[in-house]
Amino acid sequence: MRSFLKTKTAIALALSVTAGTASADGHSGVEVLHWWTSGGEAAALNVLKDDLEAQGIGWTDMPVAGGGGEQAMTVLRARVTAGNAPTAVQGLGFDIIDWANQGALANLNEVAAAEGWDDVVPAALQQFAKVDGAWVSAPVNVHSTNWVWANKAVLDANGIAAPTTWEEFESALATLQAAGITPIAHGGQAWQDTTVFDGVAMSVLGIDGYRAAFVDMDESVLGGADMVEVFNRMAVIRANVDDNFSGRDWNLATAMVINGEAGFQMMGDWAKGEFINAGKVPGEDFLCFRFPGTQDQVTFNADQFMMFDQGGAVSEQQAALASAILSPTFQSAFNVVKGSVPARTDVSDEAFDACGKQGMADLAAAASSDNLIGSVAHGHANPASVKNAIYDVVTAHFNGEFDSETAAAELVDAVSIAQ
Ligand code: BGC
Repeated sequence: MRSFLKTKTAIALALSVTAGTASADGHSGVEVLHWWTSGGEAAALNVLKDDLEAQGIGWTDMPVAGGGGEQAMTVLRARVTAGNAPTAVQGLGFDIIDWANQGALANLNEVAAAEGWDDVVPAALQQFAKVDGAWVSAPVNVHSTNWVWANKAVLDANGIAAPTTWEEFESALATLQAAGITPIAHGGQAWQDTTVFDGVAMSVLGIDGYRAAFVDMDESVLGGADMVEVFNRMAVIRANVDDNFSGRDWNLATAMVINGEAGFQMMGDWAKGEFINAGKVPGEDFLCFRFPGTQDQVTFNADQFMMFDQGGAVSEQQAALASAILSPTFQSAFNVVKGSVPARTDVSDEAFDACGKQGMADLAAAASSDNLIGSVAHGHANPASVKNAIYDVVTAHFNGEFDSETAAAELVDAVSIAQ
């Protein structure tokens, strides 16, 4: 299957791509800007590097640390402004649409048509990968943010079963507090606070309320009584993190759960990559479950690689990178390591562990029941201006600057100004 697709692609590309192989800054091969710098992320990235190197395509690495990609996007803006865009750039949701609308991205339609992307990439992803009929990025995966990761031995030792309701979750937190264990491992950074907020908001608002608040930006929901309850729950979470949470990187918070220093972490499934990288086994060493009250929903974000226009048609290396990313074998191999699930609907779940299998089943079920919706924290619900406005309010509340009523009122104002 793969070689057939590759042959078809090679023929199509031979007809269309620019012959020149060097990017604007003189690199041959591809220069890839990304924020995959944790142990689990780097292990996954190596799957992609190795794939390309096996095809004889050189890789210049441009890592910019910082979960959620804010710092990477700042570096990207500087590079584009300087007329020196990297060849390929990790991107999320509305940021991709934004770059496409600025005319910065190469058109991948040739490779997409040759490989039938239209038929296998889910519609929820196509809305961020195709702009005005042009494929502008290659989807790598689907992550989701409404997960909880737990240390199984810690839970067992304290007689705690995976909570399925908010009330059970609160009671588990109280049990861990009483036992002298940090209930929740967390890193106080705006994107992490808001990643937690994704799941908490969904648990209170449900899919209709989440959509009304963050997609339709309905002020009565953004500032309503249920939003006050969302912030009340965020305050409960704040009361269950350790004293050193401020500024901590997400993977160090995951390590606290891995090492048994904390019971739970609310984080996207890139956290699973850290457990796997540490040799841990789902169901034995750690548990994965949906944030209580969001069992039927999926708040997703998909990593994609935008191919920046290097002047002319898409380069041979860019097309090869896009093709490698979309190949079914790569989608399986990469996502098994990354913690995410494939960005194609036709990849078997055979190679995936229990959490991965659940992730794939949840995604398919949520997509078919209209319970799949973009993550606020990871740029799949709103453009960056609105996302950043929400970050500011969520973080200010988490750090005690606003009480819950004030936070809901501030959310209305911040979102309205940012639009
Ligand atoms: C990306 C993930 C990444 C995580 C933490 C998210 O925005 O989608 O791929 O692992 O940030 O760095």
